Amino acid sequence: MDRLILETTVTQGHISKDIQGHFSEHLGRCIYGGVYVGENSDIPNVNGMRSDVVQALRDIRIPVLRWPGGCFADEYHWKDGIGPKNTRKKMVNTHWGGVTEDNSFGTHEFMELCRQLSCDAYISGNVGSGTVQEMNEWVEYLTFDGISPMADLRRANGRENGWKVKYFGVGNEPWGCGGNMTADYYTNEYRRYQTYIRQYRPGEKILKIAAGPGTADWRWTDTLMKSAGKMLDGVSLHYYTVPGTWEHKGSALSFTREDYYVTIRKALEIEELIRLNSAVMDLYDPEKRVGLIVDEWGTWFDVEEGTNPGFLYQQNAMRDAMVAALSLNIFNRHCDRVHMANIAQLVNVLQSPILTEGDRMVCTPTYYVFKLFRDHQENELLASFLDAPEMEVCGMKLPSIQHSASIAKDGTVHVTLVNPSLDEARELEIATRDRMPEQVQGEILTGKMDDHNTFDRPSDVKDQPFTGFAVAQDGLTVTLPPLSVVHLAIR
Ligand code: AHR
Repeated sequence: MDRLILETTVTQGHISKDIQGHFSEHLGRCIYGGVYVGENSDIPNVNGMRSDVVQALRDIRIPVLRWPGGCFADEYHWKDGIGPKNTRKKMVNTHWGGVTEDNSFGTHEFMELCRQLSCDAYISGNVGSGTVQEMNEWVEYLTFDGISPMADLRRANGRENGWKVKYFGVGNEPWGCGGNMTADYYTNEYRRYQTYIRQYRPGEKILKIAAGPGTADWRWTDTLMKSAGKMLDGVSLHYYTVPGTWEHKGSALSFTREDYYVTIRKALEIEELIRLNSAVMDLYDPEKRVGLIVDEWGTWFDVEEGTNPGFLYQQNAMRDAMVAALSLNIFNRHCDRVHMANIAQLVNVLQSPILTEGDRMVCTPTYYVFKLFRDHQENELLASFLDAPEMEVCGMKLPSIQHSASIAKDGTVHVTLVNPSLDEARELEIATRDRMPEQVQGEILTGKMDDHNTFDRPSDVKDQPFTGFAVAQDGLTVTLPPLSVVHLAIR
């Protein structure tokens, strides 16, 4: 039998709720049709935001939302998205399908969305094609309560007080779509732009995020940390799980067992990138003040047939749920350095927790993983030791069980366990050491690798109560069915 030892009195770092963050870009149907339908829509909404989507996201306690991109951020000029909607400038969304962007969802709408979601705002500023002045003025518009040109403009647009902005990103993927810069060039630009992100709100410091690498390019992180490490609060990291090549990524629903295991292997590779970047950051910031911000992660498959290739719409199956659970466990276990992560993307784009079609909405298997993980938010990571052999499948060695464990303020221990095997159940003994479990509650997400929800069958895959455990001599015994994610709350 496999064995997991939980040291319930030894903690190893704080699990920020922001590890369970999300990302929303002006891309395909993420914003328009996904979260925003406009005040005059027949789809139930509050100030234009879909009520069904807002409620679903509140239910998983969405902590933070990144906006407006992605690649879109470096072509976005925020002043085009304020003021009366009929006077807002229209633009071409060159990155994503060449469609017309009418700017009807702008700064006020995004902050209203965050208000309805009760989540924090993470704004991505434009370095690629924007000016320092533009970024400086956006921060003033967003956050300054006093008398100033931008605060007055905001008031003229109907908002008296500034908003709290928790994070501000200085550019996105500057090595690629964000301006094709070198590490040295971007680092200098970062130093200059961040100077003008003024702190106007006492007690509500804006945390500045520099754009980090999207590959194993540790030199990028090194250059940034060496020369700007004292001027930033986070360095971003982007990592997508692509089972095939970038040209032929593979289908979201039609895939083989081997494709499944390759996807799992590739998802797990994010841990190496986290280790590598953390090691570089440790050289300059051993106290781990600066966060590694995984602000884009998730699966990336070929777009669903018949949909606009620039819209990145893909279905979402149990395979995606496994990737989400493995990733969230990894982020938890590296919470001393990973201070935020944002899955790409919120609705209708890439690995979405939510899909919409007209007035219909469906929660994907990935959504239910977030539900199973939500009780880790703001807990302390527990020291734990797993003794379980690797499994050999399709010529690959993979973990047979993967986990993370945390303790909440009220003393409840939360464990999330993943069994990625398609065939084998695992018997696991959990030793809880200094405490005997008095009350245990569990939920499970399980199914076949391509199981998914559709608009006609929205509840085929969802979390269920889990009873596959028994209290044993020094803790619990648990049976994890094949292809399952389990959450246990142990009191
Ligand atoms: O999430 C889709 C795109 O992937 C983002 O716009 C970009 O930052 C990344 O390359």
